[in-house]
Amino acid sequence: MTILLAPMEGPLDFALRDILTRVGGIDRCVSEFIRITDTLLPARAFKRIVPELAHGSRTPSGVPVRGQLLGSDPVCMAENAAKLAELGSAGIDLNFGCPAKVVNRHGGGAALLQDPEHVERIVAAVRAAVPRPIPVSAKMRLGFHDDTLAEACAQAIEAGGAEELVIHARTKAHGYRPPAYWDRIADIRAHVRVPVIANGEIWSVADAHRCRDVTGCEMLMIGRGAVANPGLGQAIAGEQAVITWAEVIPLLHGFWQLICANVVPKHRAGRMKQWLNYLRRTYPEAEDAYMAVRIVNDSRQIESWLNSLSPEFRTDAARLPGTCSSDAHCGVWPAEAIQSPS
Ligand SMILES: Cc1cc2nc3c(=O)[nH]c(=O)nc-3n(C[C@H](O)[C@H](O)[C@H](O)COP(=O)(O)O)c2cc1C
Repeated sequence: MTILLAPMEGPLDFALRDILTRVGGIDRCVSEFIRITDTLLPARAFKRIVPELAHGSRTPSGVPVRGQLLGSDPVCMAENAAKLAELGSAGIDLNFGCPAKVVNRHGGGAALLQDPEHVERIVAAVRAAVPRPIPVSAKMRLGFHDDTLAEACAQAIEAGGAEELVIHARTKAHGYRPPAYWDRIADIRAHVRVPVIANGEIWSVADAHRCRDVTGCEMLMIGRGAVANPGLGQAIAGEQAVITWAEVIPLLHGFWQLICANVVPKHRAGRMKQWLNYLRRTYPEAEDAYMAVRIVNDSRQIESWLNSLSPEFRTDAARLPGTCSSDAHCGVWPAEAIQSPS
Protein backbone atom coordinates (compact mmCIF):
# COMPACT_ATOMS: atom_id res chain seq x y z
CA MET A 1 0.00 0.00 0.00
CA THR A 2 1.07 3.59 -0.59
CA ILE A 3 0.69 5.87 2.41
CA LEU A 4 0.33 9.63 2.17
CA LEU A 5 0.61 11.98 5.14
CA ALA A 6 -2.42 14.29 5.20
CA PRO A 7 -2.22 18.06 5.26
CA MET A 8 -3.19 19.41 8.70
CA GLU A 9 -2.99 23.16 9.11
CA GLY A 10 -1.92 23.79 12.71
CA PRO A 11 -0.40 20.61 14.10
CA LEU A 12 1.22 19.14 11.00
CA ASP A 13 3.67 21.71 9.67
CA PHE A 14 7.15 21.06 8.28
CA ALA A 15 8.49 20.27 11.78
CA LEU A 16 6.11 17.40 12.43
CA ARG A 17 6.39 16.29 8.79
CA ASP A 18 10.12 15.97 9.38
CA ILE A 19 9.64 13.96 12.57
CA LEU A 20 6.92 11.66 11.19
CA THR A 21 8.81 10.96 7.97
CA ARG A 22 11.95 10.16 10.00
CA VAL A 23 10.01 7.29 11.54
CA GLY A 24 9.23 5.88 8.10
CA GLY A 25 6.26 4.31 6.35
CA ILE A 26 5.20 7.57 4.68
CA ASP A 27 5.59 7.68 0.89
CA ARG A 28 4.53 11.26 0.28
CA CYS A 29 3.30 14.36 2.11
CA VAL A 30 0.93 17.18 1.24
CA SER A 31 1.58 20.54 2.90
CA GLU A 32 -1.02 22.40 4.89
CA PHE A 33 -2.98 24.78 2.64
CA ILE A 34 -1.58 28.00 1.25
CA ARG A 35 -4.48 30.42 0.95
CA ILE A 36 -4.77 32.22 -2.38
CA THR A 37 -7.00 35.28 -2.59
CA ASP A 38 -6.44 37.86 -5.32
CA THR A 39 -2.68 38.29 -5.51
CA LEU A 40 0.39 36.43 -6.66
CA LEU A 41 2.14 35.47 -3.45
CA PRO A 42 5.85 36.20 -3.08
CA ALA A 43 8.22 33.23 -2.98
CA ARG A 44 8.74 33.69 0.77
CA ALA A 45 5.05 33.01 1.45
CA PHE A 46 5.34 29.57 -0.21
CA LYS A 47 8.67 28.83 1.47
CA ARG A 48 7.32 29.72 4.90
CA ILE A 49 4.71 26.96 4.68
CA VAL A 50 6.76 24.58 2.57
CA PRO A 51 10.39 25.15 3.63
CA GLU A 52 11.11 21.78 2.02
CA LEU A 53 11.07 23.71 -1.30
CA ALA A 54 14.65 24.75 -0.54
CA HIS A 55 15.59 21.07 -0.27
CA GLY A 56 14.23 19.58 -3.47
CA SER A 57 10.69 19.61 -2.03
CA ARG A 58 11.59 16.73 0.26
CA THR A 59 11.66 16.31 4.01
CA PRO A 60 15.14 15.79 5.51
CA SER A 61 14.56 12.03 5.25
CA GLY A 62 13.84 12.38 1.54
CA VAL A 63 10.04 12.06 1.39
CA PRO A 64 8.48 14.30 -1.33
CA VAL A 65 6.15 17.11 -0.26
CA ARG A 66 3.44 18.54 -2.51
CA GLY A 67 2.36 22.11 -1.80
CA GLN A 68 -1.39 22.58 -1.42
CA LEU A 69 -3.30 25.64 -2.65
CA LEU A 70 -6.71 26.77 -1.48
CA GLY A 71 -8.68 29.38 -3.38
CA SER A 72 -11.57 29.92 -5.73
CA ASP A 73 -10.34 32.20 -8.51
CA PRO A 74 -9.08 30.08 -11.43
CA VAL A 75 -6.74 32.75 -12.82
CA CYS A 76 -5.18 33.54 -9.47
CA MET A 77 -4.92 29.87 -8.54
CA ALA A 78 -3.20 29.18 -11.86
CA GLU A 79 -0.67 32.01 -11.43
CA ASN A 80 0.18 30.90 -7.92
CA ALA A 81 0.37 27.26 -8.94
CA ALA A 82 2.84 28.19 -11.68
CA LYS A 83 4.93 30.03 -9.09
CA LEU A 84 4.82 27.10 -6.67
CA ALA A 85 5.87 24.79 -9.51
CA GLU A 86 8.72 27.16 -10.42
CA LEU A 87 9.91 26.97 -6.81
CA GLY A 88 10.29 23.22 -7.29
CA SER A 89 7.22 21.78 -5.56
CA ALA A 90 6.99 18.00 -5.99
CA GLY A 91 3.44 18.56 -7.22
CA ILE A 92 0.49 20.88 -6.77
CA ASP A 93 -2.45 19.78 -4.65
CA LEU A 94 -5.75 21.66 -4.70
CA ASN A 95 -7.96 21.92 -1.63
CA PHE A 96 -11.69 21.30 -2.17
CA GLY A 97 -12.42 20.22 1.36
CA CYS A 98 -11.67 22.91 3.93
CA PRO A 99 -14.73 23.38 6.17
CA ALA A 100 -13.60 26.64 7.83
CA LYS A 101 -16.33 29.30 7.78
CA VAL A 102 -13.94 32.09 6.85
CA VAL A 103 -12.73 30.08 3.83
CA ASN A 104 -16.20 28.88 2.76
CA ARG A 105 -17.64 32.42 3.05
CA HIS A 106 -15.24 33.48 0.31
CA GLY A 107 -16.28 30.53 -1.85
CA GLY A 108 -13.17 28.42 -1.15
CA GLY A 109 -12.52 24.91 0.20
CA ALA A 110 -15.55 22.64 0.58
CA ALA A 111 -17.93 25.41 -0.58
CA LEU A 112 -16.66 24.80 -4.13
CA LEU A 113 -18.17 21.31 -4.08
CA GLN A 114 -21.59 22.93 -4.69
CA ASP A 115 -20.43 23.92 -8.17
CA PRO A 116 -18.65 21.12 -10.08
CA GLU A 117 -18.25 23.29 -13.19
CA HIS A 118 -16.30 25.85 -11.22
CA VAL A 119 -14.19 23.07 -9.70
CA GLU A 120 -13.33 21.95 -13.23
CA ARG A 121 -12.42 25.52 -14.25
CA ILE A 122 -9.98 25.79 -11.33
CA VAL A 123 -8.35 22.43 -11.99
CA ALA A 124 -8.09 23.08 -15.74
CA ALA A 125 -6.56 26.53 -15.23
CA VAL A 126 -4.00 25.14 -12.79
CA ARG A 127 -3.18 22.14 -15.00
CA ALA A 128 -2.64 24.45 -17.99
CA ALA A 129 -0.33 26.71 -15.98
CA VAL A 130 1.84 24.00 -14.44
CA PRO A 131 4.51 22.29 -16.57
CA ARG A 132 3.51 18.75 -17.54
CA PRO A 133 5.96 16.67 -15.56
CA ILE A 134 4.68 18.23 -12.34
CA PRO A 135 1.63 16.34 -11.08
CA VAL A 136 -1.57 18.17 -10.14
CA SER A 137 -3.82 16.46 -7.61
CA ALA A 138 -6.92 17.43 -5.68
CA LYS A 139 -8.40 16.65 -2.30
CA MET A 140 -12.15 16.76 -1.83
CA ARG A 141 -14.81 15.94 0.73
CA LEU A 142 -17.99 14.15 -0.31
CA GLY A 143 -19.84 17.44 -0.58
CA PHE A 144 -20.92 20.56 1.26
CA HIS A 145 -24.41 20.08 2.77
CA ASP A 146 -24.80 16.54 1.39
CA ASP A 147 -23.02 14.09 -0.91
CA THR A 148 -25.28 14.25 -3.96
CA LEU A 149 -22.66 16.02 -6.11
CA ALA A 150 -19.73 13.83 -5.01
CA GLU A 151 -19.47 11.89 -8.28
CA ALA A 152 -19.96 15.06 -10.37
CA CYS A 153 -17.18 16.83 -8.45
CA ALA A 154 -14.79 13.89 -8.83
CA GLN A 155 -15.53 13.80 -12.58
CA ALA A 156 -14.98 17.56 -12.78
CA ILE A 157 -11.61 17.16 -11.10
CA GLU A 158 -10.69 14.44 -13.57
CA ALA A 159 -11.98 16.44 -16.56
CA GLY A 160 -9.92 19.42 -15.40
CA GLY A 161 -6.82 17.26 -15.75
CA ALA A 162 -5.87 16.28 -12.21
CA GLU A 163 -3.79 13.11 -12.06
CA GLU A 164 -4.91 11.97 -8.62
CA LEU A 165 -7.81 12.47 -6.28
CA VAL A 166 -7.85 12.20 -2.50
CA ILE A 167 -11.32 11.73 -1.02
CA HIS A 168 -11.97 12.57 2.62
CA ALA A 169 -15.08 10.47 3.08
CA ARG A 170 -17.29 13.04 4.77
CA THR A 171 -19.21 16.15 3.78
CA LYS A 172 -18.48 19.58 5.18
CA ALA A 173 -21.66 19.19 7.25
CA HIS A 174 -20.23 16.03 8.84
CA GLY A 175 -17.24 18.04 10.08
CA TYR A 176 -14.88 15.53 11.71
CA ARG A 177 -17.59 13.39 13.33
CA PRO A 178 -17.11 9.64 12.85
CA PRO A 179 -17.80 7.62 10.85
CA ALA A 180 -16.11 8.24 7.54
CA TYR A 181 -18.27 6.95 4.68
CA TRP A 182 -15.68 4.77 2.94
CA ASP A 183 -18.38 3.03 0.87
CA ARG A 184 -18.97 6.35 -0.92
CA ILE A 185 -15.32 6.35 -2.01
CA ALA A 186 -15.96 2.99 -3.71
CA ASP A 187 -18.98 4.52 -5.52
CA ILE A 188 -16.96 7.51 -6.69
CA ARG A 189 -14.04 5.33 -7.84
CA ALA A 190 -16.41 3.62 -10.23
CA HIS A 191 -17.07 6.97 -11.94
CA VAL A 192 -13.48 8.10 -12.59
CA ARG A 193 -10.29 6.67 -14.08
CA VAL A 194 -7.78 8.72 -12.05
CA PRO A 195 -6.21 6.96 -9.07
CA VAL A 196 -8.24 7.59 -5.93
CA ILE A 197 -6.69 7.87 -2.47
CA ALA A 198 -8.94 7.09 0.50
CA ASN A 199 -8.88 9.30 3.57
CA GLY A 200 -10.71 9.62 6.88
CA GLU A 201 -10.77 7.81 10.24
CA ILE A 202 -7.79 5.53 9.68
CA TRP A 203 -6.42 5.18 13.21
CA SER A 204 -5.00 1.64 13.16
CA VAL A 205 -3.65 -1.08 10.90
CA ALA A 206 -7.05 -2.79 11.08
CA ASP A 207 -8.77 0.45 9.95
CA ALA A 208 -6.33 0.71 7.03
CA HIS A 209 -7.10 -2.82 5.90
CA ARG A 210 -10.84 -2.32 6.23
CA CYS A 211 -10.63 0.97 4.37
CA ARG A 212 -8.72 -0.72 1.54
CA ASP A 213 -11.25 -3.55 1.43
CA VAL A 214 -14.27 -1.24 1.38
CA THR A 215 -12.89 1.36 -1.04
CA GLY A 216 -10.67 -0.81 -3.22
CA CYS A 217 -7.96 1.88 -2.86
CA GLU A 218 -4.33 0.82 -2.67
CA MET A 219 -3.36 4.35 -1.66
CA LEU A 220 -4.43 5.71 1.71
CA MET A 221 -3.93 9.09 3.34
CA ILE A 222 -3.53 9.30 7.11
CA GLY A 223 -3.75 12.47 9.18
CA ARG A 224 -4.75 12.49 12.85
CA GLY A 225 -3.93 8.78 13.10
CA ALA A 226 -0.29 9.45 12.22
CA VAL A 227 -0.04 12.43 14.56
CA ALA A 228 -1.48 10.32 17.39
CA ASN A 229 0.62 7.31 16.51
CA PRO A 230 3.87 8.20 14.70
CA GLY A 231 4.51 4.56 13.77
CA LEU A 232 1.16 4.07 12.04
CA GLY A 233 2.52 4.37 8.49
CA GLN A 234 5.22 1.80 9.17
CA ALA A 235 2.79 -0.49 10.91
CA ILE A 236 0.38 -0.34 7.94
CA ALA A 237 3.28 -1.12 5.63
CA GLY A 238 3.89 -4.18 7.84
CA GLU A 239 7.40 -2.99 8.62
CA GLN A 240 7.05 -2.64 12.38
CA ALA A 241 4.55 -2.95 15.17
CA VAL A 242 3.36 0.32 16.71
CA ILE A 243 6.34 2.16 18.21
CA THR A 244 6.70 2.37 21.97
CA TRP A 245 6.62 5.45 24.19
CA ALA A 246 10.37 5.00 24.77
CA GLU A 247 10.79 5.39 21.01
CA VAL A 248 8.54 8.43 20.97
CA ILE A 249 10.67 10.34 23.52
CA PRO A 250 13.56 11.06 21.11
CA LEU A 251 10.97 12.19 18.59
CA LEU A 252 9.63 14.68 21.15
CA HIS A 253 13.17 16.01 21.61
CA GLY A 254 13.68 16.28 17.86
CA PHE A 255 10.35 18.05 17.51
CA TRP A 256 11.19 20.45 20.33
CA GLN A 257 14.48 21.36 18.69
CA LEU A 258 12.75 22.14 15.41
CA ILE A 259 10.15 24.20 17.23
CA CYS A 260 12.79 26.16 19.14
CA ALA A 261 14.68 26.84 15.92
CA ASN A 262 11.63 28.07 14.05
CA VAL A 263 8.85 29.23 16.32
CA VAL A 264 8.81 32.31 18.55
CA PRO A 265 9.10 31.50 22.27
CA LYS A 266 5.54 32.42 23.18
CA HIS A 267 4.09 29.79 20.81
CA ARG A 268 6.48 26.92 21.57
CA ALA A 269 4.72 25.42 24.59
CA GLY A 270 1.46 25.38 22.65
CA ARG A 271 3.01 23.36 19.84
CA MET A 272 4.33 20.69 22.21
CA LYS A 273 1.01 20.47 24.08
CA GLN A 274 -0.84 20.19 20.79
CA TRP A 275 1.17 17.13 19.76
CA LEU A 276 0.93 15.54 23.23
CA ASN A 277 -2.81 16.02 23.07
CA TYR A 278 -2.91 13.80 19.96
CA LEU A 279 -0.36 11.31 21.34
CA ARG A 280 -2.44 10.62 24.43
CA ARG A 281 -4.89 8.80 22.20
CA THR A 282 -2.22 6.09 21.77
CA TYR A 283 0.06 6.33 24.81
CA PRO A 284 -1.07 6.40 28.46
CA GLU A 285 2.32 8.03 29.21
CA ALA A 286 1.36 10.90 26.91
CA GLU A 287 -1.79 11.38 28.96
CA ASP A 288 0.39 11.82 32.09
CA ALA A 289 2.75 14.09 30.17
CA TYR A 290 -0.12 16.18 28.85
CA MET A 291 -1.59 16.56 32.33
CA ALA A 292 1.85 17.62 33.62
CA VAL A 293 2.28 20.44 31.10
CA ARG A 294 -1.31 21.31 30.28
CA ILE A 295 -1.25 24.70 32.01
CA VAL A 296 2.41 25.48 31.31
CA ASN A 297 3.05 28.28 28.83
CA ASP A 298 6.71 28.96 29.52
CA SER A 299 8.90 27.21 26.98
CA ARG A 300 11.76 26.83 29.52
CA GLN A 301 9.47 24.83 31.79
CA ILE A 302 8.46 22.64 28.86
CA GLU A 303 12.13 22.03 28.16
CA SER A 304 12.87 21.07 31.79
CA TRP A 305 9.93 18.68 31.75
CA LEU A 306 11.12 17.19 28.46
CA ASN A 307 14.66 16.72 29.77
CA SER A 308 13.29 15.02 32.89
CA LEU A 309 11.51 12.41 30.76
CA SER A 310 14.63 10.51 29.88
CA PRO A 311 18.25 10.78 31.03
CA GLU A 312 19.57 9.67 27.62
CA PHE A 313 18.31 12.73 25.78
CA ARG A 314 18.69 16.37 26.60
CA THR A 315 17.69 19.44 24.68
CA ASP A 316 19.16 22.84 25.41
CA ALA A 317 17.37 25.24 23.10
CA ALA A 318 19.76 28.05 23.96
CA ARG A 319 22.65 26.00 22.53
CA LEU A 320 20.93 25.15 19.28
CA PRO A 321 22.19 26.92 16.17
CA GLY A 322 19.51 28.96 14.44
CA THR A 323 17.37 29.16 17.58
CA CYS A 324 14.62 31.66 17.08
CA SER A 325 14.37 34.24 19.83
CA SER A 326 12.82 37.13 17.95
CA ASP A 327 9.13 37.73 17.53
CA ALA A 328 9.17 36.94 13.82
CA HIS A 329 8.92 33.47 12.37
CA CYS A 330 12.53 32.59 11.60
CA GLY A 331 12.05 30.03 8.86
CA VAL A 332 15.44 28.50 9.62
CA TRP A 333 15.94 24.99 8.29
CA PRO A 334 16.75 22.82 11.32
CA ALA A 335 20.41 22.03 11.71
CA GLU A 336 21.09 20.05 14.87
CA ALA A 337 20.26 16.58 16.07
CA ILE A 338 19.58 15.64 19.65
CA GLN A 339 22.36 16.70 22.02
CA SER A 340 24.14 14.24 24.24
CA PRO A 341 23.61 14.41 28.02
CA SER A 342 25.51 17.28 29.62
C1 LIG B 1 -6.35 20.33 12.44
C2 LIG B 1 -6.63 19.90 11.03
C3 LIG B 1 -6.13 20.66 9.99
C4 LIG B 1 -6.37 20.27 8.65
N1 LIG B 1 -5.84 21.01 7.63
C5 LIG B 1 -6.03 20.62 6.34
C6 LIG B 1 -5.43 21.32 5.26
O1 LIG B 1 -4.67 22.29 5.43
N2 LIG B 1 -5.70 20.88 3.99
C7 LIG B 1 -6.51 19.81 3.75
O2 LIG B 1 -6.72 19.44 2.59
N3 LIG B 1 -7.06 19.11 4.77
C8 LIG B 1 -6.83 19.48 6.05
N4 LIG B 1 -7.37 18.75 7.06
C9 LIG B 1 -8.11 17.51 6.77
C10 LIG B 1 -7.16 16.30 6.81
O3 LIG B 1 -6.20 16.38 5.79
C11 LIG B 1 -7.92 14.97 6.67
O4 LIG B 1 -8.65 15.01 5.47
C12 LIG B 1 -8.88 14.72 7.83
O5 LIG B 1 -8.28 14.98 9.08
C13 LIG B 1 -9.39 13.26 7.81
O6 LIG B 1 -8.31 12.37 7.84
P1 LIG B 1 -7.85 11.64 9.22
O7 LIG B 1 -9.07 10.99 9.81
O8 LIG B 1 -6.80 10.66 8.78
O9 LIG B 1 -7.33 12.73 10.12
C14 LIG B 1 -7.15 19.13 8.38
C15 LIG B 1 -7.64 18.36 9.46
C16 LIG B 1 -7.39 18.73 10.75
C17 LIG B 1 -7.92 17.87 11.89
